[in-house]
Amino acid sequence: MSGITVLGLGAMGSAIAGALIENDHAVSVWNRSAGKADSLVARGAREAVTVADAIGANAVVVVCVLDYAAVRDALGDAATSLAGRTLVNLTNGTPEQARAMADWTRRHGAAYVDGGVMVTPDLLGTPDAVVLYSGDADAYLARKDVLDALGAGVWLGDDPATAALYDIALLSAMFGMFGGFLHAAALLRSEGLPVTAAAPMIESLLEAMIALLPQTAIEIDSAAYPEPMSNNRMMAGALKNILDGSTGQGLSPDLMQPIWELFQRGVEEGLGDHDIAALVQLIRA
Ligand SMILES: NC(=O)c1ccc[n+]([C@@H]2O[C@H](COP(=O)([O-])OP(=O)(O)OC[C@H]3O[C@@H](n4cnc5c(N)ncnc54)[C@H](OP(=O)(O)O)[C@@H]3O)[C@@H](O)[C@H]2O)c1
Repeated sequence: MSGITVLGLGAMGSAIAGALIENDHAVSVWNRSAGKADSLVARGAREAVTVADAIGANAVVVVCVLDYAAVRDALGDAATSLAGRTLVNLTNGTPEQARAMADWTRRHGAAYVDGGVMVTPDLLGTPDAVVLYSGDADAYLARKDVLDALGAGVWLGDDPATAALYDIALLSAMFGMFGGFLHAAALLRSEGLPVTAAAPMIESLLEAMIALLPQTAIEIDSAAYPEPMSNNRMMAGALKNILDGSTGQGLSPDLMQPIWELFQRGVEEGLGDHDIAALVQLIRA
């Protein structure tokens, strides 16, 4: 049994604390607003009255709040209590924010591990849970046995920004899928058709496309683009039909427009005979 503190008891922080309790760790919890610790206390957690009290209770402090501004707010005046401890920040943020947070934490005498939870709260602590980590390797390895209660830990190296970069990269793929699904649903609903009837077809199409991703990744990393099965010129045409078809159905094409623009620019810049892997080079500021 080893102790650990969890700061932030929103959906994810509560799931983190719950998974740690399930694995017989002594858990101290704190949340900005009152009332969110009750069910965890009933399961054996100890609720700290102040952040300083929560930090002081254990050598490992996990923070999972809305964003990095909230992390700074939460730690606030209690930052000096961090000295000699390990701060594991599982809050979603940017690589720049992670590096700044690592510097700030080190200046307060604590080791810093950044991270990202890659599942919804209900899956935390199950075999399907994946949690990304990077930063202070010694601190991570020393606490790995405790952190493993959350799910399979993926160590990404000693740059604290790497976990945040992977986090927003993975979420980019996820949100792209959500955006496409919402547009598909709007098209179907524009004629009063049930999305539920199309959902299995969407699922099976996406599964087939997901199967192509490993090969696409190889092409991107090697910048070698073999003869494509589906070329960008053809896909730009299909995307234009999505824009025109959506407008014709009285819908906004805004979600799909930037994707068509990317393919169209690819065609204009000589990438029409390649497949999507070649378009990555066009995504630049
Ligand atoms: N939920 C998911 O599916 C999911 C999945 C993966 C990763 N994540 C990440 O996990 C993190 C937490 O998400 P969540 O789902 O737990 O969000 P949430 O349910 O909305 O909870 C937000 C938490 O942040 C706290 N908070 C917000 N502003 C604060 C401030 N200024 N000072 C102190 N505490 C503050 C809230 O405290 P109060 O209770 O006082 O408002 C609450 O504990 C986010 O970075 C999110 O991206 C979430």
